[in-house]
Amino acid sequence: SPGSEFHNADDTDFSLPANREWASEIVRQWKDKSIEPIPICVGQQQILEPLTGEGHDPSKPDAIVYRYAEATAAHVENALNVAVEAQKNWEAQGLAHRSHILRQVAVEVAKGRAESIGSMLFEAGKAIQESDVEVSEAIDFANYYAGSLEAEGWFDGTQAKAIGVVVVTPPWNFPFAIPCGGVLAALMAGNSVILKPAGESVLTAWTMVNQLWRAGVPKDVLQFIPMEDGPVGKKLLSDPRVAAVVLTGSIQTAKLFQSWRPDLNLLAETSGKNCLVISSSADLDLAIKDLVKGAFGHAGQKCSASSLALVDDEVYDSPKFRQQLVDAASSLKVGVPWNAASIVTPVIREPGPELAKGLTELDAGEEWLLEPKIVDGNPCLWSPGIRIGVQPGSWYHRTECFGPVLGLIRVTTVEEAIEIQNSSEFGLTGGIHSLDPKEIDLWREKVEVGNAYINRPTTGAIVQRQPFGGWKNSCIGPGSKAGGPNYVSLFCEWTETESPQ
Ligand code: SER
Repeated sequence: SPGSEFHNADDTDFSLPANREWASEIVRQWKDKSIEPIPICVGQQQILEPLTGEGHDPSKPDAIVYRYAEATAAHVENALNVAVEAQKNWEAQGLAHRSHILRQVAVEVAKGRAESIGSMLFEAGKAIQESDVEVSEAIDFANYYAGSLEAEGWFDGTQAKAIGVVVVTPPWNFPFAIPCGGVLAALMAGNSVILKPAGESVLTAWTMVNQLWRAGVPKDVLQFIPMEDGPVGKKLLSDPRVAAVVLTGSIQTAKLFQSWRPDLNLLAETSGKNCLVISSSADLDLAIKDLVKGAFGHAGQKCSASSLALVDDEVYDSPKFRQQLVDAASSLKVGVPWNAASIVTPVIREPGPELAKGLTELDAGEEWLLEPKIVDGNPCLWSPGIRIGVQPGSWYHRTECFGPVLGLIRVTTVEEAIEIQNSSEFGLTGGIHSLDPKEIDLWREKVEVGNAYINRPTTGAIVQRQPFGGWKNSCIGPGSKAGGPNYVSLFCEWTETESPQ
């Protein structure tokens, strides 16, 4: 299998003083860095007009910290023409060549770890350790996808044919690893790629694209086209020359894309409302540690975040459990990522209606176990919130808030927890903390999620070990599992050839 000789990249060990000094140097270099305007890249051309895009730093949300060009319909037309032509040669160069380039990508991405982290601190407000993990994940995608088609017995020109031009539309919450993974999977299969970066994280995507070009990916095979989401985006995604679109975003965005082009080949990883079940048999110290990590890591802005805990009534009613949970959440340092100790960092922008409601309004029967507060006067920076008394089927149970807020639902059995968990329209990640093998087996068998985790957080899937992707409204398309076997083959056409015996 592709996994047999696969080794995940190591994250930086920040317990070592030398690595902490390295992190401080990144902060020193990036905190008030002046960033050159970022171009649209069509083939070999770099275009700086119109320079209408604005980059922001959630640590000081009112400032514009850089500018980027946004494509017009004419740029999109040119990029599509270039992509169609470039794809043929890229595919003709063969699997071994592409595999070699992807391994070079892994090397370049590893070399660029500091600049990639810097850009994530700068515009995504992502804490340094979380940013570091993204770089490791991107290296893993490169090495894993480099070997995946060969390992699955696909051959050039016969079985594996590219599908053509792939558009990758990544999110801002994993601004480095997710675009890198989507782009590399499509490239590995012999496609050309147009990357439309998320408007909130253009700089990080630009940093990544430059690393891929340095590794030998041709500029006409990977084009970088920032644009507004409106009519220009619609023109690109509805063009029949686009063979597939990779989206990580909300279910609403996925449905909008489909409304633009009903026959769109869309591979989308969409929303989640993920639950961690805490049984009466759980190791509570570990359960609380994992719950807090899953709920408040990257300020809860992960599609995999544990925004609900379904807690056994004995545990739920225990003052000791409640106190320990409050202590754990309150001990997380809230602050800007420029302070390396910060764990709960600013959300990407001032909360919109759903997150604002999640952070400030309670429904019938709910109370704050820990009330979230704005910190340092920054409307993007909130301390963790915990609501208890959340009712199954309530607004909070149904709504992905995407911020540092956790809700607790009281349950009496694991069966009841499973029923509540499965009543969601989403099915991305889920977890159970239990030391009872029967409970674990029951949960594993019945739970309707793509990533079911036992005695670990619901976030932080590891390439090859935990292929990532969900069910139900957490996914559109063929149920793609990024970082797993068969992911690259989603970007190929399969031809069965048989010779006379
Ligand atoms: N892969 C990420 C995680 O597992 C989410 O995109 O947290």
